[in-house]
Amino acid sequence: MLELAKLCLKEGRIRPQDIGRALDGLQLKDLGRCHHYSVRGDWLQTLDFRDRSVLLHPGRFPRIASATYFENRVACCAFLLPPGSVLPLHDHPTQVVVQKVLCGTATITSYDWDRDDPRSSRAVVVDSKVKYGPDTPASSFGPVNGGVLHEIRNDCQSEPLIFIDIISPPYHKPPQFISCTYYTLARPRENNATVVELDVAHPIVEMDTLLPLD
Ligand SMILES: [Fe+2]
Repeated sequence: MLELAKLCLKEGRIRPQDIGRALDGLQLKDLGRCHHYSVRGDWLQTLDFRDRSVLLHPGRFPRIASATYFENRVACCAFLLPPGSVLPLHDHPTQVVVQKVLCGTATITSYDWDRDDPRSSRAVVVDSKVKYGPDTPASSFGPVNGGVLHEIRNDCQSEPLIFIDIISPPYHKPPQFISCTYYTLARPRENNATVVELDVAHPIVEMDTLLPLD
């Protein structure tokens, strides 16, 4: 994963198409072995993603978990969403994100800020309930491609969803110290609505930690 981050920086700038190609060659087993810690820091289990049978016990993954590798200008994040869980609507301000699903199916609804809204509390639905799986090529979103906010669901009740995000610039790093904000749909509009009202969600989503061993 860290090698992947370095690859992203090889030419001194982030090129989503190059990152996407690298991600398309990635497989679940490349995550290797991880220790899984609860949000409180308690060790829960060791997961060996080189063996797919690690996925056969849905109840084994009670919470959303993530592993993050930082370089100065890019972060590689692996996310594990247990069956039936959701990574709530959140933003990627000024960031470019390249995403690849390694296991399961991600159901993603993407939004952009409504440029006609001076309060920045409204968002335009870009894509609704689009599904991505391991056979889907890596996708990118951000200020250029659109989709700076999104919600990611694992609608499957039997299998975790595992995906990789390459994010540049990273959250919480100098010089920009970008923070992630979570939202709720304050006023969802039914029937082909493309604009929704957003409200800042509390509390911030807490995640377990995957600590790679290899
Ligand atoms: Fe995201």
